[in-house]
Amino acid sequence: MNNSSTYRQIPMLPLRGVLVFPYTVIHLDVGRKRSINAIEEAMLDAKEIFLATQKDAQNDDPDISDIYTVGTVAEIRQILKMPGGTMRVLVEGLNRAEIKEYLPSDSYLRVSIIEHNDEEQEKTAQIEAIMRTLVSQFEQFVRMSKKIPPETVVSVVSIEEPGRLADVIASHLSLRINEKQQVLEARDVYKRLNYLCELLAKEMEVLELERKINIRVRKQMEKTQKEYYLREQIKAIQKELGEKDERASEVEELREAILKAKLPKEAHEKAFKELDRLEKMPPMVAEAVVVRNYLDWLLSLPWSVETKDRLDLKVAEQILQEDHYGLEKPKERILEYLAIRKLAKKMKGPILCLVGPPGVGKTSLGKSVARSLNRKFVRMSLGGVRDEAEIRGHRRTYVGSMPGRVLQSIKQAGSRNPVFLLDEIDKMTMDFRGDPASALLEVLDPEQNSTFSDHYLETAFDLSKVMFITTANSIYNIPRPLLDRMEVIEISGYTEEDKVHIAKDYLVPKQIKENGLKSENISFSEGAIRKIIREYTREAGVRSLEREIASVCRKVARQVVEDPSTSVNVSAAMIVKYLGTGRYRYGVAEEDNQVGVATGLAWTEAGGDILSIEVALLKGKGKLTLTGKLGDVMKESAQAALTYVRSRAEELKIAEEIYQGSDVHLHVPEGAIPKDGPSAGITIATALASAMSGIPVRKDVAMTGEITLRGRVLPIGGLKEKVLAAHRAGIYTVIMPLDNRKDLAEVPANVKRKMKFIPVSHMDEVLQETLVRSKEKN
Ligand SMILES: Nc1ncnc2c1ncn2[C@@H]1O[C@H](COP(=O)(O)OP(=O)(O)O)[C@@H](O)[C@H]1O
Ligand SMILES: [Mg+2]
Repeated sequence: MNNSSTYRQIPMLPLRGVLVFPYTVIHLDVGRKRSINAIEEAMLDAKEIFLATQKDAQNDDPDISDIYTVGTVAEIRQILKMPGGTMRVLVEGLNRAEIKEYLPSDSYLRVSIIEHNDEEQEKTAQIEAIMRTLVSQFEQFVRMSKKIPPETVVSVVSIEEPGRLADVIASHLSLRINEKQQVLEARDVYKRLNYLCELLAKEMEVLELERKINIRVRKQMEKTQKEYYLREQIKAIQKELGEKDERASEVEELREAILKAKLPKEAHEKAFKELDRLEKMPPMVAEAVVVRNYLDWLLSLPWSVETKDRLDLKVAEQILQEDHYGLEKPKERILEYLAIRKLAKKMKGPILCLVGPPGVGKTSLGKSVARSLNRKFVRMSLGGVRDEAEIRGHRRTYVGSMPGRVLQSIKQAGSRNPVFLLDEIDKMTMDFRGDPASALLEVLDPEQNSTFSDHYLETAFDLSKVMFITTANSIYNIPRPLLDRMEVIEISGYTEEDKVHIAKDYLVPKQIKENGLKSENISFSEGAIRKIIREYTREAGVRSLEREIASVCRKVARQVVEDPSTSVNVSAAMIVKYLGTGRYRYGVAEEDNQVGVATGLAWTEAGGDILSIEVALLKGKGKLTLTGKLGDVMKESAQAALTYVRSRAEELKIAEEIYQGSDVHLHVPEGAIPKDGPSAGITIATALASAMSGIPVRKDVAMTGEITLRGRVLPIGGLKEKVLAAHRAGIYTVIMPLDNRKDLAEVPANVKRKMKFIPVSHMDEVLQETLVRSKEKN
């Protein structure tokens, strides 16, 4: 198979870190003395030298065992002596050879070798196939690696001999020495080609991985570079336009503000996290505005701002008196409440809830409490609040989201311990968007409100130092769990005397000031005030009264503008000039008694009111028609009243054709206001009896009481407010259920003195008192 079975002796050069394949030309730098000697020796002879690689390149003086036994016989083509005694040798590999023996020699290595020549090998189909594979792999490798010049491929493709092909390709690859050695040692050509294929495949895999990593790194680089570049451009543009680098100074400002705000730990961390985000964002993106807004919100809250309480009960009492007339009981309760707070500063008392009709001073009492404690005051109206988010805010993912109204109010207060008035909590409603009452519960509950969480803020705010006060018109509409946490203080309507005092001492001076007048410009006579109360308002509180007074003040203010020396003393007679004709009739008693019209007393959330009930008879079949927005209970009570009146037809001298042959139409005027409840029973019965019997009803009597079919009179609620309403309307006789007598204790003494109360237990007594003829009979 080969012709190389002869031994020959030859000088040898141990190589470090390189391996020379047959058919390759290569430069070797030679420095070691023994190596130089070996070359010189070779030059004397056939110019041939044996090259074998050291196993360890670092070894300066290798032993026999440190050198691979298979190497290459090479021809020395050129020698270049280098300065410093080293030598550059150009060699060309000729044949594989194997060391058989190291020969004794002192100045250089000399070996006996046997050569293995594979030139003559026969080319089988198998070899042909693997050669093609190898060539195409090599082509691909060259394309990928970019380290080998493409011309190499051309020269490689043209090689016909399989062994040579393998050796040339191997010489071009940057393989490890042991891998190269293995190629060299593979005497079987097929094995050699096969092994090279494996090596190439592995190399390409590594290259592919390298390429992927490179691409990724480059992409990353490109992106950051691009951003950096764009950002620099924007900066440059801004500079050209004369704008500063706003983002940087903005971030700096915010950083300082955060540090100054003394946020609690959680909020502090949150703030810096958001600031980080902001800093990394390219300027002018929409998201930056969102983050900026958020930080502004976070920083605007009074996290650590607290006012110092003035817990001086004397001062508190004085301020409460200064701000409000009357209201003795509520004031006393408020002072007790403050006293408890003073005694036990940490203890959380229940929350005050001021309940009463509109305009009795609930809101302004809350304000006074704040003033007496020297706290900030905020008011949040819950009227119409139906969405949990109004209290607790929207998550930031919503466009235009904001914190809820609780935190908005706290921000407005500017301290974390204000007096916080939750106004009209009975006017809250609930729907699919969540129950605001449960959110409010979290606000009010001392167990939970130290970590109140707002959806927008996403970090807890401490509400435990806030003093909450709530108000409502009636306790019936306050959600039960809320009511349980509150201490209710009831405030009832004012009498006319109260109102006169309030007007003279509070409302008039207040309105004079608010309308820019001086006390020399205007004064109100008591008569004028009474006229306004009686004919221009009908209310439990003083809201309309204040409005009317304001309206007079405005008109006088106009006169003052025209003539600064104006001085008006507003008298009762002048009121019509300022306010037009009165809206309400006062003292119905002075009018004629009428048939089929009776005056009842009603209780609503707005306090007590008088209510006139009218009945008309029409020819028909005994049908009962009701109009005036009456509730079901009131309708039933009308039915009961009708039955009672029919049963008394004989006594009342009602002709049969009247109660059998006429339709009854019952109407309660002021139809827009819904009316309900059973307490109009005796009034309806009176109006019916009067209409059917043709006997007029006394105009100066007002009545309230539920009626049964048999005519028994049952007790009712809200007597105090009803009596005040009658008194307000100038009706001084009130018919009331006997069982309600105990409630008279609540009626203010000055009202009671003026009034006549007729307690009754049966409808017959009512008719006796109200129908004029039957009264005359008695
Ligand atoms: N007892 C009172 N003394 C002085 N002013 C009063 C009194 N009660 C009510 N007012 C005044 O009447 C106006 C309406 O009161 P407000 O507090 O709004 O009533 P509410 O909140 O109960 O509906 C306010 O200007 C208030 O100062
Ligand atoms: Mg109010």
